[in-house]
Amino acid sequence: MNWLILFLDLIFIGYSIFFIRMMVLLPSRAPFVPTRAKVTTEIADIIGPLPTRSVFYDLGCGDARMLVEMAKRNPDAQFIGIEFQFIPFLLAKYRTRGTNIRIIRGMFEKHDLSEATHIYAYLYHHVMNALLPKFEKELSPGAVVYVLDFKLAEREEDRMHLLDSREKGKLGSELYVYTF
Ligand SMILES: C[S@@+](CC[C@H](N)C(=O)[O-])C[C@H]1O[C@@H](n2cnc3c(N)ncnc32)[C@H](O)[C@@H]1O
Repeated sequence: MNWLILFLDLIFIGYSIFFIRMMVLLPSRAPFVPTRAKVTTEIADIIGPLPTRSVFYDLGCGDARMLVEMAKRNPDAQFIGIEFQFIPFLLAKYRTRGTNIRIIRGMFEKHDLSEATHIYAYLYHHVMNALLPKFEKELSPGAVVYVLDFKLAEREEDRMHLLDSREKGKLGSELYVYTF
């Protein structure tokens, strides 16, 4: 009986830690809201074929759907997704098994991006804006950053695509492109 109480206590403590962590982290990060399937395809069409040896990142890759779409079309490029939430990370790992996509669990702020040639990001404005100094410091000249919906406040985009797959009242309507 004591073991059962101890076991239930541990579950309760574990859940409380998880819940508090999410309450603290999520408002300051972007939650897991995957890019819609049609939008994913349209963005991949806009990005077009990647040069061989490209290194394509999805910062906050969720379940890796953007990476899977891009990797299918570019078998010679390298793909990296970074995701800090456990469930999307597991989904991404499962989805990308046996492919040329590497999924890293962690915070993208801590990851060196100097090898990136292309970056996709679907994150909140404030998260994007906080990333700008990192992009400016680490990205090689010519690296291209694709941002869905939440444009950078302090940098003018090279171009913006109004997506054909946009739907009224839904996210996923504007793709901003920045070349560094
Ligand atoms: C709006 S979702 C986009 C998911 C995916 N990129 C897509 O387009 O389907 C944002 C994701 O970024 C992750 N995320 C937010 N901040 C992060 C950070 N600092 N480091 C790693 N992942 C982060 C969230 O957990 C969430 O899964």
